[in-house]
Amino acid sequence: MKLQGKVALITGAGSGIGWATALLFAREGARVACADINEGAAKETAQQIEKAGGQALVIRADVSRSEDCQGMVERTVATWGRLDILFNNAGVPQAPTSVENLDEATFDRIMAINVRGVYLGCRHAVPVMKKQGGGVILNTASTAAIRPRPGLNAYGASKGAVIAWTKALALELAPSKIRVVALAPVATDTPMLPTFMGKTVVDEKGREAMVRTIPLGRLNTPEDVARAALFAASEDAQMLTGTCLEIDGGRCI
Ligand SMILES: NC(=O)c1ccc[n+]([C@@H]2O[C@H](COP(=O)([O-])OP(=O)(O)OC[C@H]3O[C@@H](n4cnc5c(N)ncnc54)[C@H](O)[C@@H]3O)[C@@H](O)[C@H]2O)c1
Repeated sequence: MKLQGKVALITGAGSGIGWATALLFAREGARVACADINEGAAKETAQQIEKAGGQALVIRADVSRSEDCQGMVERTVATWGRLDILFNNAGVPQAPTSVENLDEATFDRIMAINVRGVYLGCRHAVPVMKKQGGGVILNTASTAAIRPRPGLNAYGASKGAVIAWTKALALELAPSKIRVVALAPVATDTPMLPTFMGKTVVDEKGREAMVRTIPLGRLNTPEDVARAALFAASEDAQMLTGTCLEIDGGRCI
């Protein structure tokens, strides 16, 4: 077990990548605080963890709100006495939109959740990690930051900010033994995927077109990303910080 005795807090734990990571971290011995704006979804993840014999906590949190981020850290620490791993994973997608049609409210919402949410998570978790002598912060970026697709302008920019933020914090927090790592998944089979294609459901044509852009010839599963998150959070990655791990089947080459 790679995370025995560890306490992890995962945002966006109610679905997709956050869900798969919560289950995997719990299987590897971590107690997992499942935070999501959708409390019912977080509850389902927590129930699955408990059913498998693990320990979980359900936290309703909107990561764009400072009091919610403070609350999710405080509840985790109040319950289990520490916080070893923060996974800033919650995010929202963008439907392909030309810049002249990108309205300000959409731009602001993407930045509020994808960028401000990561900042707020770190802001409230870092004092706890410093006090306990270390920790790991994982931030979900995207290949959209490195190799953008047309029309995913605000989304790609938000994930670019996540990568820059990760590197800045990795340097700043290295003396405190806090590692900070970004994960950059390519298209991943989650409820978010159709939005990136400008659709409500993924049809075969859209899927095939996407797959053709990925050298290894398939999309990510949420578990592909969860396994990378596990590696980055574990002792196996103890010299990894400031890195952006591309989980992309070769898309960014
Ligand atoms: N699916 C992909 O193709 C893909 C590719 C690269 C990166 N990502 C990133 O991976 C992360 C997870 O996405 P996913 O694909 O698992 O999507 P998803 O839609 O399955 O899950 C996202 C979860 O985040 C939650 N969430 C949304 N806004 C929130 C908020 N303000 N506060 C708290 N929780 C909130 C949702 O309720 C949902 O449970 C996101 O940051 C996303 O940008 C996804």
